Amino acid sequence: MKPVSRLWLTFLLVVVLALFLQGCSSGKEVKETSAVENETAVEAETVDYTPQNDVEAYYKEVMPGKFKMWKESAHGRNGVTCSVCHEDLKDNKLPAEKLVYNGEFDTVKPETCAKCHQKEYEGWKNTRHVQAVEFSKKNVRYHLLDGYPAMQVLGCKSCHEKVAKTCSSCHTVHSTELPKPPLNITNGCENCHMGPDHPQREAFESSKHHQVALATGEPTCITCHTTEENRHEIFRIKGTEDHGRTKMLQNCQNCHSREFAEDALAKVDEIKKETNRIIDEARKIIQGLYRDGILKPSPGSLLDENGMPMLNAKGTSYSHVSHIESLMFELFKYAGATAIKGAQHFAPDYAHWHGNADLWQKYLEIKNEAERLRLEAKLKEKLGIETEEYPMFKYSQETGKELQDLN
Ligand code: HEC
Ligand code: HEC
Ligand code: HEC
Ligand code: HEC
Ligand code: HEC
Ligand code: HEC
Ligand code: HEC
Repeated sequence: MKPVSRLWLTFLLVVVLALFLQGCSSGKEVKETSAVENETAVEAETVDYTPQNDVEAYYKEVMPGKFKMWKESAHGRNGVTCSVCHEDLKDNKLPAEKLVYNGEFDTVKPETCAKCHQKEYEGWKNTRHVQAVEFSKKNVRYHLLDGYPAMQVLGCKSCHEKVAKTCSSCHTVHSTELPKPPLNITNGCENCHMGPDHPQREAFESSKHHQVALATGEPTCITCHTTEENRHEIFRIKGTEDHGRTKMLQNCQNCHSREFAEDALAKVDEIKKETNRIIDEARKIIQGLYRDGILKPSPGSLLDENGMPMLNAKGTSYSHVSHIESLMFELFKYAGATAIKGAQHFAPDYAHWHGNADLWQKYLEIKNEAERLRLEAKLKEKLGIETEEYPMFKYSQETGKELQDLN
């Protein structure tokens, strides 16, 4: 046996003995004051808890791991007890773990944290993250999952609602520990900013900057995406007047000349422009098929003002669509996004092989598939063959009832 485990055993024995003796003397009396208000009482009365009057002890019993995290955190050490954050512990009921996971993150609101961490709160409040809750509005992929709530929770809300409503999107609910070097290089952002549709983590981790950060500690995600004044105010890139460019350039200039940084960002812009051009071309090919009656939009499609299915961030889907629309999804949501996000993070392999190469292959497949569909339509017309509806369209009509209301 290792000396450490022996030490623990001795410790445990002492604790058990102490608890036994204490149990003998105090009996099973019900406490009057909540242990929440009195930390030392908790220490002494762990055996005597009843769930009704002692949340701390109860928590220790039912979730010892999480209890320990809190106890050893800066909060546990500094007297930030349960009721400080869980203001509505009136009935002495613990918040349900399940509710939190299901996206009802309003047990403890960021406003509660703000009482002691005003600056972090002010920064957080100004970010795009806080608006992320709107993601489900008029999003075809979200609504195609209307009959599949488990996937809506695990596959959408765990990123989107969490980041919009909690500080624990990047922090851990009952621990205040921040990731330690070298794991702090991606700051916790990597939970969400990864994968085929937004591979910022993978791109950054394969860039020269990551190598630099491993050696020196910087740049991390927040080095480039926030200012020194407030590390919580991640500035917006899309949809703002200068796309956050002024602030971004200022950050580059801590380490590079302005000329070099501007040139690097000009290359990013060029790649973004060319990628979007190819995406547009592909979109036009498919819209041409709708217009000529060769491809029938899925009844679930979100339509633009011209009655055309929107083949964009809201409107592309991987399910309930035909083969060519599925290729469009891959081109737009994966390959195109990867080329742009790879370039933005100076990751040659993501910009090119995972990005541009894949983009072109999907584009050519879409072109070929469109020609094939046109030829097929001509032959069918000549031979007088009725076109049968795609099976997935029928499926969509059965399950996607609510989708009709979106238009
Ligand atoms: C610094 C604030 C803070 C303190 C102190 C705190 N909690 Fe929490 N607790 C939270 C947050 C934030 C959540 C997540 C809820 C949400 O996002 O709506 C949470 C969630 C919970 C949950 C739901 C399951 C889980 O663990 O995620 C339980 C149970 C819980 N807290 C019990 C306690 C108990 C018991 C104590 C005291 C030992 C305590 N909390 C102290 C902030 C706090
Ligand atoms: C009653 C005041 C209070 C509330 C409410 C509170 N905290 Fe704290 N927090 C503290 C104190 C005190 C510390 C320890 C500060 C120190 O060591 O300098 C701390 C430390 C932290 C740290 C670690 C800082 C570090 O440098 O290691 C994090 C992260 C944190 N709190 C997040 C939160 C979050 C998230 C919430 C809301 C769920 C919250 N806090 C609510 C008082 C509070
Ligand atoms: C792993 C976490 C994660 C999951 C799961 C996830 N998203 Fe996202 N989503 C993100 C991130 C991160 C962005 C921002 C990407 C960027 O700006 O590079 C985003 C962006 C979006 C956007 C574009 C937002 C805009 O207007 O710019 C939409 C729409 C969207 N997601 C919808 C969904 C839907 C619907 C689901 C579930 C079917 C989903 N997402 C699942 C993390 C996630
Ligand atoms: C998008 C991710 C993210 C979110 C959301 C977030 N934080 Fe943080 N937080 C961080 C990172 C990263 C650090 C470490 C900062 C550093 O290394 O300078 C940090 C550090 C902190 C600290 C330690 C003090 C400091 O600035 O170093 C506190 C306190 C804190 N956060 C509170 C909060 C509160 C309160 C909220 C919600 C209002 C919140 N955080 C939301 C990422 C986040
Ligand atoms: C060396 C600086 C740098 C680092 C480090 C960095 N980024 Fe970026 N990021 C950029 C630049 C530059 C852009 C594009 C800015 C522009 O177009 O003006 C960008 C864009 C983004 C965008 C917006 C995507 C879009 O489509 O507009 C997100 C989200 C993002 N980065 C997240 C991250 C995450 C997460 C990390 C860490 C894993 C990270 N970044 C690390 C420089 C950086
Ligand atoms: C829990 C998931 C989650 C975490 C963790 C997270 N993000 Fe995000 N982030 C999102 C989602 C979702 C969006 C898209 C919001 C939208 O457009 O509706 C987003 C959007 C962004 C954008 C805005 C892109 C733009 O210009 O529109 C930036 C920049 C960004 N995140 C950077 C970061 C950084 C840096 C971190 C870590 C410090 C981080 N995020 C942590 C989920 C997350
Ligand atoms: C904390 C310092 C730091 C910050 C901030 C920073 N960089 Fe860098 N960057 C470096 C270092 C160091 C290198 C490696 C140079 C070398 O090998 O000598 C590098 C390399 C690069 C490269 C070359 C990549 C390659 O594959 O060779 C580009 C392009 C670049 N940075 C652009 C930027 C831009 C644009 C920004 C701002 C958005 C930025 N950097 C922010 C330190 C930084």
